[in-house]
Amino acid sequence: MSYVARDDRPADKAARYAEVEAEILAVLDGEPNTTARMATVASMLADAFEDYFWAGFYVVDPTKARELVVGPYQGTLGCLRIAFGRGVCGTAAETRQTQLVEDVHAFPGHIACDGRSESEIVVPVIDRSGELIAVFDVDATRKAAFDATDAEALERLLGKVFG
Ligand code: SME
Repeated sequence: MSYVARDDRPADKAARYAEVEAEILAVLDGEPNTTARMATVASMLADAFEDYFWAGFYVVDPTKARELVVGPYQGTLGCLRIAFGRGVCGTAAETRQTQLVEDVHAFPGHIACDGRSESEIVVPVIDRSGELIAVFDVDATRKAAFDATDAEALERLLGKVFG
């Protein structure tokens, strides 16, 4: 997809997350389908931030133990399956901790779906009953694109949408 900057959005990253979060929650009001909710989150966040080169969900596969399978995303072709414990996504799924990776080349076992990725954030997605249902993965083409502001904003947003 091509990115078209919206110049009416706040420049401050935290403020921009707050604005997009409100938009996402408004769009999803009354929509119970998880795939529709994931597709909307990926689309609206990818449209809001220039650093979102690849953004999407790896969903816990209910038919296969400890394996993630690709879900709704925006970007170039992503790998289809990732085992728990493998790469950044598998580590987030295994530990249930947000992974903030400033340089993907320095992360042991990083899975390069697209060689242009330089930094990455992966946030676990936990449902209302406390089950891990997916991880949300964002890749950027520059190093250290994501920081604690992204981690806090994404954890809050994903908690509201899927918790
Ligand atoms: N880099 C991820 C794999 C997913 S893609 O980048 C879309 C990882 O190491 O888990």
